[in-house]
Amino acid sequence: AVDLNPAMRPLDWLLGTWESEEPGQGSFPTISPFLYNETLHFTHVGQPVINITFNALHAETNKPLHRESGFIRIQPGTNNVAFIIAQNSGLVEIEEGELDGQKLTLQSRALARTSFAKKPHVQQITRVLHLRSDGRLEQKVFMALENQPLTQHLHITYRRTS
Ligand code: HEM
Repeated sequence: AVDLNPAMRPLDWLLGTWESEEPGQGSFPTISPFLYNETLHFTHVGQPVINITFNALHAETNKPLHRESGFIRIQPGTNNVAFIIAQNSGLVEIEEGELDGQKLTLQSRALARTSFAKKPHVQQITRVLHLRSDGRLEQKVFMALENQPLTQHLHITYRRTS
């Protein structure tokens, strides 16, 4: 195993594999509520970067749904954290925000998509990742569409499995 790059120490609490304990809740004013399971991997190879993959499955059918893959970086000497993410839907995004203890609050700064990405197109994303005092990791994602203000889309809690 390679040592964690010292630049990434503030995010060492994310490293490993996390799996939803109970299904997460998906919602939005324009869709029917749904339940999903998700596995998160946070790994590193010694670079000042954490590699991420998020894989979500439908809770009842286990059908693969949403997938994200990317990188986390920290601006040296600051609490500023960036997520660089590609999604299977054809969306790519840069989110930036602040690390406060074991809580990350991120906002999209740039969104781009394939010319043929399905509509409606997301306009803005906010994400909160929080390691709670009970050892559970919690994620909330909010999004805005053209005609929908920033509203919660996802809420899920994970336990560390390795
Ligand atoms: C629907 C975006 C993550 C499951 C949607 C819609 C958008 C969207 C724009 C369409 C809403 C509408 O039709 O009005 C995103 C973004 C995500 C994300 C930007 C991450 C940042 C996820 C995850 C799941 C998920 C992790 C987990 C399974 C669904 C489902 C629907 C949906 C089931 C409704 C059916 C469908 O349109 O496919 N999402 N989503 N999404 N999302 Fe997400």
